[in-house]
Amino acid sequence: MLVLNGPNLGRLGSREPDVYGSQDMAALKALLEAEAPAGITIDLRQTNDESELISWLYEAVDTASPVILNPAAFTHYSYALRDAAALVTKGGGILVEVHISNPHAREEFRHTSVISGVATGVIAGFGFDSYVLALSSIGRLAS
Ligand code: DQA
Repeated sequence: MLVLNGPNLGRLGSREPDVYGSQDMAALKALLEAEAPAGITIDLRQTNDESELISWLYEAVDTASPVILNPAAFTHYSYALRDAAALVTKGGGILVEVHISNPHAREEFRHTSVISGVATGVIAGFGFDSYVLALSSIGRLAS
């Protein structure tokens, strides 16, 4: 399973800990590996580069991998990422959009997601548990 993270999430731990908590990406990886059902490999990645994120979604299509995607700030304006996410879901794949915070409880510009309309589902506001909930939803959908 691909767990893809967009810009600035590589700074988890030190970035706005009041919003995102004080744990870093390594802790997220360890949590997901501990929670993953037997036989599911967690391939967790982060990039600040929109083009790289889009290539990883192509890879998900080509390898039929389910995706947990935290698009970070791209959520709010990247139509290119939306179109790539649509390639996954309209091709019959699963893509769950996740957010650590609840963007709807934050600034106005965060209330819009251009990704949600093509995602299989959206989970937001539960800290790192948003990813764990996505993992268990994907497990149920896939079984
Ligand atoms: C985020 C919310 C986005 O608005 C923000 O730009 C992020 C992280 C979240 O996980 O809460 O970088 O996607």
